[in-house]
Parts: sequence; C-alpha cells; structure tokens
Amino acid sequence: MKKWFLTSAGVVGARSLSLKPMVASRDQTNGGSGIEHTPVLVDEVLFYLDPRLGGIYVDATVGLGGHARALVERLQGDVLILGLDRDAESLELARQRLAGFGDRVRLHRENFKNLPLLLNNLGYRELDGILVDLGVSAYQLLTPDRGFSFQEDAPLDMRMDRGQKRTAADLMNELSEEELADLLFQYGEERASRRIAREIVRERQRSPITRTGHLRRVVERATHPPMPWRIHPATRTFQALRIAVNDELQGLDEFILNAVGYLRTGGRLVMISFHSLEDRIIKQKFKLLSGLCICDLPALLCKCPRQKRVEVLTKKPVEASQEEMGRNPRSRSAKLRAVQKVPFGGPPVE
Ligand SMILES: C[S@@+](CC[C@H](N)C(=O)[O-])C[C@H]1O[C@@H](n2cnc3c(N)ncnc32)[C@H](O)[C@@H]1O
Repeated sequence: MKKWFLTSAGVVGARSLSLKPMVASRDQTNGGSGIEHTPVLVDEVLFYLDPRLGGIYVDATVGLGGHARALVERLQGDVLILGLDRDAESLELARQRLAGFGDRVRLHRENFKNLPLLLNNLGYRELDGILVDLGVSAYQLLTPDRGFSFQEDAPLDMRMDRGQKRTAADLMNELSEEELADLLFQYGEERASRRIAREIVRERQRSPITRTGHLRRVVERATHPPMPWRIHPATRTFQALRIAVNDELQGLDEFILNAVGYLRTGGRLVMISFHSLEDRIIKQKFKLLSGLCICDLPALLCKCPRQKRVEVLTKKPVEASQEEMGRNPRSRSAKLRAVQKVPFGGPPVE
C-alpha cells in the first residue's frame, strides 16, 4: 500500500496526486509558503527523546520546524534547540515559523555531518538529545523548481543545498552508462537499471536531459508506461538520483558515531528514515554501538569493538499508527529507531 503515496524518499505513487491528507493536519507546517509539511511520528519522537526541562537538543534536520516546535512547546520554552538544515530556503521558512520562540531555537545552515565542527565552534560539549528526520520535506518535494519530483516538469535539480554545484542534470549527462546503471541499482534498488541507463545514454546523444519530465519519459520508454496499480516506473530512478546528488548515505554511520559521542550519559539519539538503505545503516550502527557483533565472522576474526556505548530503545523500528497513515500518507514509510547513551567503560559484551 505504501507504494501508492508520497514519501520522503521522493516517491510519488500513481494515486498520490491527491495530496489532500497532507494539508489537513493539526501539525502542518507551511511557513507561509503555501506548501505544507506535516512532521511524522511527533508523539513517538517526544516519547523516545524524553526531553527534560533546561535540556540542550539538536534537531539535525529542522526542515520547516515541525518537530522543533513540538519539542519547544512540550518543554514550555525551557529548552535550547539547535536546528540544522542544509537547505537555505527551508531554514528561512523555519526561521519565520519559530520566530516566536526567540533564542530558545537557534538555526544554522549546516550539513549535519559537520555536527562536531559546529558544536566545537559554538562551545557545546554535551547534548541531551539529537533528532534526525532524514530525506526531503514535502515542501522540497512539492516545490516544482527544486526538481525532486516527476509529477511536474521542472529543471532536473534535486539539490537540498543549492550552493552545491552538481545537480541531478549534471549527473544525468556526465556519468557513463555503467556508472548510471550502478547508481540506479545501488541507490534505487532498480531492477531495470541497465535498461534505463542504456536508454538515458541513447537519449542524451540526441539532446541533454535537463528536465524532470524528459527523464520521466525516458524511463517510461525503457520500462513500461505508468499503471495505476503499480508505483510509477520513474520512482526508483528519481530516488537514486536524489540520494546521489545529496550524498545522503555517505558518512551517515560516522555521523551516528559522532552524535553518540556528544550525548551526555542518558542522552538520546532518535532517527527517522524513509527507505531501507538508510534504515539498514542506522540499524547496523546502533547494533554495533550497543556492543554487538555485526560482521558475521568467526569470533577469532571478528573486529567489532563489542563495547557497549548505547542501549537500543527500539528493538524493532517504530512505525506510524493507522490513524497517522490515514492523515499523513508520507508517514507510511517512516521508521523510527532510538538509542540511549550508557556510561562508558563497561565490560565488553559477551
Ligand atoms: C524530512 S525533512 C525534516 C522535516 C522536519 N523534521 C520538520 O518537522 O519540518 C528533512 C530535512 O532534512 C534536511 N537534510 C537532509 N539531509 C541533511 C543533511 N545532511 N544535513 C542537514 N540537513 C539535511 C533536508 O533539507 C530537509 O529539510
């Protein structure tokens, strides 16, 4: 079912043109842009962050500020939230929306992978909690000129950080056929990756592919026309391109390690992902940090540190309730995982 709807991974299924459920929530966030973003799993985020009065929290993907707002409201303003986003436009909308909270919420245009640098510069040594809500926001996805979606014809851009040079169009026209096929396979888990890559290369010899509509047509030609009962054939190609353009998976595991390093004992890291590639990385890293082995090698060859630094709070990923899925289709593919930091230096886990 989830394939039918809009997800943070940029997936827009055939029936998702009806976006009404996205604009009908009490949590909706539009920052005046007219395009809504409804934060997912808000109650669950608060439950797992378990925020405390006077705490310092990082919202590493502040987006349009929906989760940050819920957090500051829960603590009735007695909190400091550092909100990060690499997207200047989203950050500006968050700034407007969160202005009423004054310096309780401080926003920074930053890639969360640079968190250690930012915290060092700002002089923060210990945090009470960190939230990461990965992927793109509905605002980014539904703003046509950002070029994330194939639902409207627009420049093939897909950069979250528009200061970055390389766009999706650049990738599309510069990569070799083999590189394109690998990209589609690895980041889109696209089974027709070779066929699509071949068609892209053939097409771009006629004219460069610089628009979302053009790419969509090329993928349809290489695969099959859209069918109402299946996800659109361009879905996985668009997801793969977006992940590549924004380097979304690179360094995610290192970020998790750094983030845990900045938590005080008892502090929590909560992460929401929207596709299996990200969820796999999070799950594995949490497992490793909880002192377990992830390498499947015989004990003598295993190099996993087996040092317990966190307690995993979510044995299975937390998913949205039926009620939330009905109200906010984007929540259908959300998976939340959380850990709590434990005192360092405990015995190795057997
Ligand atoms: C799903 S949205 C977050 C929505 C937000 N939680 C809210 O309630 O409005 C994801 C956001 O993360 C940002 N983002 C993705 N990767 C990032 C990164 N590496 N560093 C900073 N921001 C990132 C995107 O620009 C986007 O605004």
